[in-house]
Amino acid sequence: MVGLIQEGQDLMDEDFEGGVKDAALISAAQRVEHYEIAAYGSVRTWTGLLGETEAEALLEQTLEEEKETDQKLTQLAEEINVEAKGSGKEEEEESDETIAGRKAKSARA
Ligand SMILES: [Fe+2]
Repeated sequence: MVGLIQEGQDLMDEDFEGGVKDAALISAAQRVEHYEIAAYGSVRTWTGLLGETEAEALLEQTLEEEKETDQKLTQLAEEINVEAKGSGKEEEEESDETIAGRKAKSARA
C-alpha cells in the first residue's frame, strides 16, 4: 500500500499536460481500490470460514463500498480519459501550427 501511495504522490509531482494528470491520478486511485478489494475480499472469506459472521458481514459491507468507489472512478475515467486524449491532440495541433508558422516565416525571409 505504501508503494501505491508513493506512486500517486510521484504522479502529483509530474508535469502532465491537459487532463492527463487527472487521468493518471484516477488510475492511481483505482490501483489503491483494487488492492483494498483484494484484501477485504480475502479477509471476508477467512472470517466466513472461521464462523465469525458479524465480522464477515462488516467486511462484506466494506468490500461493497470499495467496489462502488472503484465503479465511480471508472465512470470518471471514461470521461476524463477522452478529455485527456483530446487535450493532447490540441497541443499536438498547436505545435504543428507553430512549426508551420516558423517554416512560412523562414521561407519569406
Ligand atoms: Fe477505498
